[in-house]
Amino acid sequence: MINNKQKILISGVQPSGRIHIGNWVGALQNWVRLQTNPDYQCLFFIADYHSLSSDYDPAEKREQIFELMVDLLALGLDPEKCLLFRQSDILEHAELCWIFNTLTPMAFLERMTQFKDKSGEQEKNINVGLFDYPVLQAADILMYRGEFVPVGRDQVQHVELTRDIARFFNNKYGVQFFPEAKPLLTNVSKLRSLNDPLKKMSKSLGEKSYIALSDEPDVVLKKIKSMVTNTDGLITMTEKEIEDALTRPITKKGEEELCGQAGILNLITLLRLFGSAEEAEQVIANQPLKYGELKPLVAKRVSDYFAEFRERKTELMAKPHEVKEVFESGAERARALAAETMKEVREIIGITLKD
Ligand code: ADP
Ligand code: TRP
Repeated sequence: MINNKQKILISGVQPSGRIHIGNWVGALQNWVRLQTNPDYQCLFFIADYHSLSSDYDPAEKREQIFELMVDLLALGLDPEKCLLFRQSDILEHAELCWIFNTLTPMAFLERMTQFKDKSGEQEKNINVGLFDYPVLQAADILMYRGEFVPVGRDQVQHVELTRDIARFFNNKYGVQFFPEAKPLLTNVSKLRSLNDPLKKMSKSLGEKSYIALSDEPDVVLKKIKSMVTNTDGLITMTEKEIEDALTRPITKKGEEELCGQAGILNLITLLRLFGSAEEAEQVIANQPLKYGELKPLVAKRVSDYFAEFRERKTELMAKPHEVKEVFESGAERARALAAETMKEVREIIGITLKD
């Protein structure tokens, strides 16, 4: 199935809650756009093994996996144009992860910021899977010799580690087997959390942090109305100044101000992305911002943008057999590719018996 002239592009998303506008802005919009680009052969998958490293309920997980596939289809990902599958249907991912574990220094994983953040968020469940998470991610990418990885900014460090692991493998075994993967970012690679704008919007920060793509207009309005912004409606900092300020020690007052500025810029970003650049410029030109008018406008732009998605999702939820077929045919196609890679890997690393 893989055409040699095309570059392999691969990415995954965890089934750990409903997908939100941060996922869309940072990664999923690129997935949909790139599936029709003739330069790439696209593979997208549901990273269910990864999601086991955070607390979860098994019955809920089952629903989340199914619903995530529905979401991907409702967004317009088309199994005729890209390979859509679920990670745990391809057991080889766990096998390659183990092989990569034997090549990856612990110290490299200790540096991973996601591990540090998540360890803080789930103090009672700092499991080995959470630590090893980026190695499994490298296995996901390299299993299909992925060269391009469309993700949000928070995942760049993991893609860099994937490059290191590919290099360790190639050097250790004296081969040029795995390529060097590069992240592909969108213009806005990080959307900020609605209620805590100094952090990225994330499912793990709770319902109030994000707008799910499937949120109905009344919910979107409520969430945007309670978004943290500054009080006087004046923009005094750029995104870059905020990011720079965050790298230095700050006082409580400084942090509050920064938070207000990050919030106001986040609101403008939403208008720019889901309304238009002109609309956003107009608002910036008419400071101070009038939140009473602006917030309902932004809420309308966001809900209108995803109206078609919501409709398609409702339709697909009523057709579970069609969705199941996507899982089945995707698994079959991905399995064949993974089997080919692993046959060669086992030979290279010396665990294949002689004929
Ligand atoms: P979450 O952090 O909400 O659990 P995931 O880890 O499942 O989201 O992320 C799926 C994809 O969406 C990844 O490529 C990730 O980089 C991207 N992403 C997640 N949150 C954001 C955000 N706030 N801004 C931009 N991209 C994001
Ligand atoms: N770690 C990614 C996230 O949290 C999900 C993921 C798992 C992934 N494996 C991947 C992304 C491989 C890109 C490529 O969003």
